[in-house]
Amino acid sequence: MNRDVLDTAGSELRETLIRAAGREIPIRIGRGAAGDVGSWWPERWKRALLVTQEGVPIPFDIPDGVVVSYVEKSEGAKRLSTIERLASDAIKAGITRNDGVIAVGGGVVTDVAGFFASVYYRGIDLVNLPTSLLGMVDAAIGGKTGVNLGEGKNLVGSFWQPLAVICDLDALASLPSREWRSGAGEMAKYTFLGADRLQSLPFDLQVYSCAQIKAEVVSADERESGRRALLNYGHTLGHAIEGAFLGRGEESAISHGEAVGVGMIFAARLARGLGRISAERVEEHLKVLDAFHLSPFLPQELEPEEVIGYLKVDKKNKAGPTFILDGPRGLEVVEGIEEEVILREIEEFAGWSG
Ligand code: GLY
Repeated sequence: MNRDVLDTAGSELRETLIRAAGREIPIRIGRGAAGDVGSWWPERWKRALLVTQEGVPIPFDIPDGVVVSYVEKSEGAKRLSTIERLASDAIKAGITRNDGVIAVGGGVVTDVAGFFASVYYRGIDLVNLPTSLLGMVDAAIGGKTGVNLGEGKNLVGSFWQPLAVICDLDALASLPSREWRSGAGEMAKYTFLGADRLQSLPFDLQVYSCAQIKAEVVSADERESGRRALLNYGHTLGHAIEGAFLGRGEESAISHGEAVGVGMIFAARLARGLGRISAERVEEHLKVLDAFHLSPFLPQELEPEEVIGYLKVDKKNKAGPTFILDGPRGLEVVEGIEEEVILREIEEFAGWSG
């Protein structure tokens, strides 16, 4: 997937809603969606801290009273010291409890800015304006925020719902190709969550369909006590792959969505190994990944033991690694898979080359 798909997008603005945190949260999607600041700027705000990264396109004219604070242009920005620095910036800028935070960027920015908004003065307003495909279909929607520790990803965070999520598709025009692949990995995931004809739609409707599924799942299970966990399809191994690269100081070796894509193929192979799905269903997974131009293979640099080590610190774990697996009733949370089974599957996966 690359920016050519933008050509298929219409000019209509679409809106879907999440019901969470006791209110309705609009998700607005379309070209130019952010341009009319008055349509998303809450009346009570006098000031705002705009959290972004150098080079990210700001899809609106920055109003008076907005102070811009930049975070690093890498996953490395997702650390606790960034939150402390944003708090200092906000205090210096005179941001009060009646003001807000505007997150403009991809998943790193919305995760960090959201976590910051949730703890600054014990919580202030947040508006998310995702500028990456991954942000528009996933990260900016649903209120999960957080930072990483050396031990693994997103181990410290909060649920903090934004007032609105504004997805201006024009912001994608300058998205690097790796970021397109990252978004594509998350979009591919929705194929297994009900969007089975996703690829036949024009691009704006693809984004809208993904956002709609996410909104519906989060409205039903905001705090992930059940169904929301299914949004983590492919993430168990995906996070372990990302954690392994992060641990080596090589986080740019793979993007989140690419790792999720590999994780979905591993989950499908594991489900087949456990007798939950057929070999044909695994093939269907491979076709979906191929349609989104994503690699299904475990990166060659990683050793199975290294990946297993990172599986053990996944925050979803209760009794051993928790996987979302396909099966006769669709996707389900599966716990308690024996470690030898997982290790054997990972070793086979590592040796598999199509
Ligand atoms: N990215 C998965 C979720 O928001 O629940």
